[in-house]
Amino acid sequence: MNDHDSNPGRLRRHELLDEMGLSPQWRLRDTANHLASSLTPQAISASDPPTPAERLVAASEEPSQNQRLQRIARLDWLELAQDTAGCQACGLCQQRRQAVLGVGDTAADWLFIGEGPGAEEDARGEPFVGQAGKLLDAMLQAIGLRRGEDVYIANAVKCRPPKNRTPEIAEIVACHPYLQRQIALLQPRLIVLLGRVAAQALLGEVDTLASLRGRTFSHRTPTGEIPMLVSYHPAYLLRNLTDKAKAWQDLCRARELMREARNGL
Ligand code: URA
Repeated sequence: MNDHDSNPGRLRRHELLDEMGLSPQWRLRDTANHLASSLTPQAISASDPPTPAERLVAASEEPSQNQRLQRIARLDWLELAQDTAGCQACGLCQQRRQAVLGVGDTAADWLFIGEGPGAEEDARGEPFVGQAGKLLDAMLQAIGLRRGEDVYIANAVKCRPPKNRTPEIAEIVACHPYLQRQIALLQPRLIVLLGRVAAQALLGEVDTLASLRGRTFSHRTPTGEIPMLVSYHPAYLLRNLTDKAKAWQDLCRARELMREARNGL
């Protein structure tokens, strides 16, 4: 699954514009405040479709949803695995073999977030174990990281969408409390969002990937702010080899952001 599956040609057009120098200018610092203010009702015109974050807020106003959010926000890792295994919050539960919570070091500084499990992940219960996973492992290795060692890997949705289709907004929203809880438990120093769905899940922005790359976002937690950046999904890179150079730029920037985070800059 990747950005192209649901929108054939869409990103390619933007990438073409990018190559021609006609894409939006990248901004190097986007603070939580900027994001938060862009999500206020005043900042969003009535005709704008609600973002996942707004839908989440709306959903949390329903008493039962609110209870679910509060319950998930208190789970530990084991309880989280049990809860996702039995989750029926969206239709993806009907065809999954198992929920795929995530894999790795639960004290990791690095958090990589993808889209959702595919067939192999659904069968094995671990994210990124197919071809895209092999590439992700190679990408990690390129910056001196290894799956499971100071790295945690999760997905925006924990259950495989049928035929590997792109997860729907409602599915991303239903799974959002689990992702939030994973971040809260993990407290990573840096979050790398792989592809548009992961970006949607945490930025609430439905934008092109090209316009999100090169910027630093911030995830606000009760204990501080975690920097986030957006890069290409490995499955996309498997089909668009020329963009691997851009992904490498993103990884180098991620490494730099991690250095800064560790030095408290
Ligand atoms: N693609 C993803 O986004 N996640 C996986 O776990 C596998 C493929």
